[in-house]
Amino acid sequence: MAPVVSGFSKLSKEDKIKWLAEHHFNNDKKATETLITYWNSNDKLQKLHDEFTENTISNYYLPFSVAPNFLINNHRYTLPMTIEESSVVAAASKAAKFWQTRGGFKAEVLSTTKVGQVHFTYTGDLKKLHHFFEEIKPNLIKNVSPITKNMEKRGGGIKNIELIDKTSEIENYYQLHCTFETVDAMGANFINSCLEQFAKTLVSEAQDYADFSTDESRIEIIMSILSNYVPECLVRASVSCSVKDLPNTEDLSATQYAQKFVRAVHIAEIEPYRAVTHNKGIMNGIDAVVLATGNDFRAIEAGAHAYAAKDGRYKSLTHAEIRDDQFIFSIEIPLALGTVGGLTSLHPLVKLALQLLEKPNAKKLMEITAVAGLAQNFAAINSLITTGIQQGHMKMHLMNILNQFEATTSEKEQLIEYFKTNTVTHSEVVTQIEKLRA
Ligand code: MEV
Repeated sequence: MAPVVSGFSKLSKEDKIKWLAEHHFNNDKKATETLITYWNSNDKLQKLHDEFTENTISNYYLPFSVAPNFLINNHRYTLPMTIEESSVVAAASKAAKFWQTRGGFKAEVLSTTKVGQVHFTYTGDLKKLHHFFEEIKPNLIKNVSPITKNMEKRGGGIKNIELIDKTSEIENYYQLHCTFETVDAMGANFINSCLEQFAKTLVSEAQDYADFSTDESRIEIIMSILSNYVPECLVRASVSCSVKDLPNTEDLSATQYAQKFVRAVHIAEIEPYRAVTHNKGIMNGIDAVVLATGNDFRAIEAGAHAYAAKDGRYKSLTHAEIRDDQFIFSIEIPLALGTVGGLTSLHPLVKLALQLLEKPNAKKLMEITAVAGLAQNFAAINSLITTGIQQGHMKMHLMNILNQFEATTSEKEQLIEYFKTNTVTHSEVVTQIEKLRA
């Protein structure tokens, strides 16, 4: 076990690695070499990455891929996707290609409101608190004007502040439930700064409020923080086509395909075990675009799954139906995304990803990202109800297995050829490598 270390963050990068080598890697040179191999030779770029966070000792690469042919609201996009999982990008591209000849994807932002809360306790009379809140509301807003000034110039700011009585759930517990418009910024820093100032104003105004007794004036702030639950920062994306234009095979007519597809989505609407995997597949596409564009995928994940459970049962984020011989497939998902601030102007690949998307505003990025989720889900269900997921998945996974065995270029070529007509399984790949090498 490694000893306790103090002042670790103050050590140079080299000394941090030395410490790790000594206490975690038994001074194995390979560990140090691996860390250093991933340093960028461009010092300026490396320093930028080092300073994104703390105790950085190396870089952790993820593939930066692209999925072309996404026709969204009659405009063609190539989507940047950052993801390590085999077959996600191929599946997205396949779905994009399928739908581009069937009218493409339609997407629209339904709302863009974000939320933050000041959680506090108060022991006095509720009526007095209401009066107090109404009286100080202008000051709550006035005192954040240095923070909101710029946001207001861009068309955003505070939308509303409400006093919420939560005493039926926790004794003496109240909230300021605040809503914001943050335009093209994800807005976490803006919202949190506003909330912390609201909290300060609340406490200081309470101290001087004539109607409060000394006890009542003791409003205690528990915390002030934005919410990643954003059911009113919502986007909808959809595809539709005539049922007869759906895949039509020997095993499954287009009508049977449509019915089976709708049934598969329906299962994810009523069965949480399936819904979680179904939504995980959606998030394969969403997270990949979110990560490539420098947004906070943890926030997006948390918000999406909470939304999936908004009716009290965890459900599919997508919906499918057949109406008047039309197949309609859609997604509705909250996406609090930004195209300014954060990493967007700092990380060179993020900048490039946004450039690839023709510098979208936040609303456009919400639409594109929702489409990525819908496309991914379409591809997954398409495989699930036809060939099964493993066929495509293992084909893409073949390269990972070959790399694991350090296959040479020639071995790779021969085995890729072999597996064009044979089923990929881990053991079969091993057998074939061993055969080649024998
Ligand atoms: C794998 O990452 C995602 C899928 O399992 C999604 C799904 O089952 O719908 C293929």
